[in-house]
Order: sequence, then C-alpha cells, then structure tokens
Amino acid sequence: MTSSDWLWWRDGAIYHVYLRSFADSNGDGLGDLPGLIDRLDYLNGTRDSLGVDAIWLSPCFPSPDKDFGYDVADFNAIDPRYGTLADFDRLIAEAHRRGIRVLLDLVYNHTSDQHLWFLESRSSRQSPRRDWYVWRDGRPGGGPPNNWQSVFGGRAWTWDEATRQFYYHMFLREQPDLNWHNPDVRRALSDATRFWLDRGVDGFRLDVFNAWYEHPDYPDNPTKLGLRGFDRQHHIYDVDRPEMHPALAEFRSLLNSYPERASVGELFGADPARAASYCNDHGLHMVFNFEFSYRAWDPEAFCTSIESAERHLGADAWPCYVLSNHDLSRHVSRYGGDHPAEVARVAATLLLTQRGTPFLYYGEEIGLPDVPLRRSQIVDPPGRRYWPLYKGRDPNRGPMQWDSGPNAGFTTGTPWLPVRLDYAELNAAAQQGDARSVWSFYRDLMRLRRLTPALRRGAFERLSRPSHQGLAYLRASPGQQALIALNFRSTPVRLTFQHPVDSSGWSLGVAAHPERAARLSPGEIDLGAFQAAVFVRSG
Ligand code: NOJ
Repeated sequence: MTSSDWLWWRDGAIYHVYLRSFADSNGDGLGDLPGLIDRLDYLNGTRDSLGVDAIWLSPCFPSPDKDFGYDVADFNAIDPRYGTLADFDRLIAEAHRRGIRVLLDLVYNHTSDQHLWFLESRSSRQSPRRDWYVWRDGRPGGGPPNNWQSVFGGRAWTWDEATRQFYYHMFLREQPDLNWHNPDVRRALSDATRFWLDRGVDGFRLDVFNAWYEHPDYPDNPTKLGLRGFDRQHHIYDVDRPEMHPALAEFRSLLNSYPERASVGELFGADPARAASYCNDHGLHMVFNFEFSYRAWDPEAFCTSIESAERHLGADAWPCYVLSNHDLSRHVSRYGGDHPAEVARVAATLLLTQRGTPFLYYGEEIGLPDVPLRRSQIVDPPGRRYWPLYKGRDPNRGPMQWDSGPNAGFTTGTPWLPVRLDYAELNAAAQQGDARSVWSFYRDLMRLRRLTPALRRGAFERLSRPSHQGLAYLRASPGQQALIALNFRSTPVRLTFQHPVDSSGWSLGVAAHPERAARLSPGEIDLGAFQAAVFVRSG
C-alpha cells in the first residue's frame, strides 16, 4: 500500500474521549474542550505522542445530564460547561494540525425533555411540533399503548396529564423519542449534521441508530425470558425497522457530499448479520463490534468473534473492534485479575492487530481499571435503579489519571467522580517515561500498525490449533505478512499450527516481553507468560 492509500477511518486508530472525565481546564470538576485541547499533544503530533489518528468525542451539547450528555437539549450548540463554539472550532483546528480527525456523537433517537422541540410538542395537541415525538392514546381502560419497556427500567411510555396522551421513550422519561416518520424531524436532524460538517467535523458516531424508527402501529413485542423488563421481549417492533435503510442512505449521501467523512454506528443488540446489513456504501462506514466486550478471557472465544465478523462482513465491509467504552466495565477490570498490566498488553495486541478499525477508550493505554464506588457515589440512573445487581456505568467513567499531582492532574477542583487511589503510581506521565510501560507498548504497537500494511488491511487467517491458553494468526496482504501470537495466561505455552509456516525471514516487530520466549518454528511457537508478539516479513 502506498501512503496515498491511507484512509484515516480504515487505517487509523480511533480514541474515545469521554469528555467530562478527560481533562478539566477550569477547576469545575468536569472535563472540557480547552482541557482536551491542552492534551492533544499527548494524543498525536509530537515524537512523544501516543499516535492516535482520530478522536470520538462523547456528546458535548447542552444537556440537563439526566443521562450525562445523551439527553441533548440543543443539537447546534456546545454546553457552556464544556466551552464555547469558538473553543470547538479551535479544537478542530488544533486537532487537524496534529493529524487528528474529530468524530462527534450524534444522539438522534431521542432528545432531552428540555429540548425546545419537546417543550413545544408537549405544550398542546395542536402544537405544530406535536408530531415531532411519539404521542399515543392509552389502551381502552387507560393503560399505556403497548407493552414496550425502557432500556433503563420501567415502561417505555409516560403519561402527560396536561395533554392526556402517552409519549414514548426507549431510555429515560427525560429522553423522549423523536418521530423519525415525520419528514420535518429528519430535515431538522440533517440540518444539525450539516452544521457540524460545515465546521470541519470529520465524522460521527451514531447513538443507538437502529432504534430511530418504531413500527407505525406500535404492536406489542413478543415476550421471552429475561432478567430485566427490557430483556423479556423480542425487540421486533421497536428496533431495526426497514425504514432504517433509506434513512441511512440519506445520511450517507449527506456525508459523501463532503470529502473523507466517515460514520460509525452503535448497534443496539448484537447480531453480526444485522450489523453487516448496515455496513455498506449506502449505509454506514462501520458498525461497532461489541463482541470483545462480553467474551470470557479465552482465546477461543475471541477467535470465534473475529471469524464471525469476517464471515458476515465479507471482504468489502469494514470491521470495527472495541474492548471498552463508556457503557462497559473496563477490560482490565473484567479480565485483569492479579495481572492487570499483563492482560492489558495482550488485549491491546489483539485489538490493534485485527482487520478492522480499533477504538481505544481513554485510559486503556495506561491499563486504567474501573473506579471502585459506593452506592452513595453512583449517579448513573441504571446504576441507581439496579444496584447491586448492576452498578451502572460510573465505575468505567472515572477521571483520566494524568500524573501524580492532586486529583491525578485531572482537575484542580472536586472531580465529578472520584479518582482512583492508585494514581500516584498509575498515571500517564509515569508511563510515558518508562519504555516498558503499558503506554509505551500501545505506542509501539500503533506505530508498527501504521508502518505495516499487512496489519492494517491484510486478510485474517487463524494459525494455531484450538487452545484455551493462546492464539496465533496471520494477516496477509500482497507482498507482506504479519504473524501474531498471544499467550493469555501466566504460564508458558507452546501453540501448534494447523499447517506449517515458513519460519524464515520474520522480524519481530513488537513483543510485550522481549526477555520472554517468542520462538517460532515451522509447526509451532513457544511463548512465555503473557507474551504477545507480532512478527512481520515481506513476500
Ligand atoms: C447509548 C449510549 O452509549 C449510552 O451511554 C446512552 O445512555 C444511550 N445510548 C442512550 O442515549
């Protein structure tokens, strides 16, 4: 591949900035845009940067924060707690200067109940905006229109006493669903998309995009067994409606009218075939594959996910992998056990050597675990509702640990969520100065990925025979091959191959533990404890 083949969203690594926890510039305890701008050098643009190619910014629009930014009160503005539009423009310019693209988070399934559109819609049945949301009469006898449940618990319908109808909300009652069947709504959302494209935004992450449409007759969903109300239904009438496809085609043609813009969708539900159906030239560029996030720490489980994605997406659609995000417990907490840094390196190698765009979650590059919280510290609504069965998402949204200064260098004020107690040792500054740190390993891996076409686009082929200890695979592109070998466990392993490989001519690109074994022979590879090695050769 020549450098002109480089396409940022396919070849680059994308870093998820959960803005309110990233860097606070004004001491109010919340991360903000100027804080992020001050940290851009950390991400790219200098010799000592991590080397990410793009950032995805969690919602930075005005919001009453019932769902921490995912209840948007104005799609065309910046929440003053995060900065100003001028700060935003500066972010775009400063990011671009460093080769960093910027993706925004579009939350188009619903708005805040404080959005002007909803206030108008709710004001009377005659309001010109009444039909911008989903209003229905109750069933004869007074119950809600159907059996649909909210993801966050309880009924998905709330009664409005003033206008004597129910409105629909897939999430909180403060997040009413927009009525995508209404062309005025679609036009208003396109205008908002254009507003940000015109400001130089490079792309978008689409929040729960496959829930935009509901069946126009609002029938009951069929029921099944499950833990929470939402899990006790087959979601056939409230998600994945056929209208999604023309809606995405329209969205895509808007993106295509600007150069090199890209989109990634958050698919609700985890069906690889369905994910693939949204990923094409008249749909989205990518859809997150969340399978890594719920797999056990077992190479067979991960390999099954990779092979399934490969099979369903085929050679033309582009995969996109993620280990952690703002909705999921951090993977070091899920898998790390007594060896968090070791597991972090193996997981990083797995993520960064796939045929597919890797999304990193801020802090994973230093092996940051979840923040332990007491019940009284939980602010996330599902956590408050389901504690202790489910502790919510606050633990995985803790402040970034920058250095050993007060509050880990995140804020001079009181952080909105507590900082972990280990920040004096576990922080970015300490790891940047340590060639053996998790941070340095991520940087080296990303550098190798950037320089190695086989790692970016090469075809995936499993190499090792089934094993619950380790995995080896090849990535092959014209003229170049990479061989990746991972030991998931704390004891050495010998992985045997399904077919012999030519063991000459390989050079070791990166190894998690240069001092431990990574010995390749035609039929097998010996790996030391938690070894993760990437070999490259031409031909
Ligand atoms: C998915 C987002 O990732 C999550 O944080 C949010 O609560 C829901 N969508 C609702 O917008």
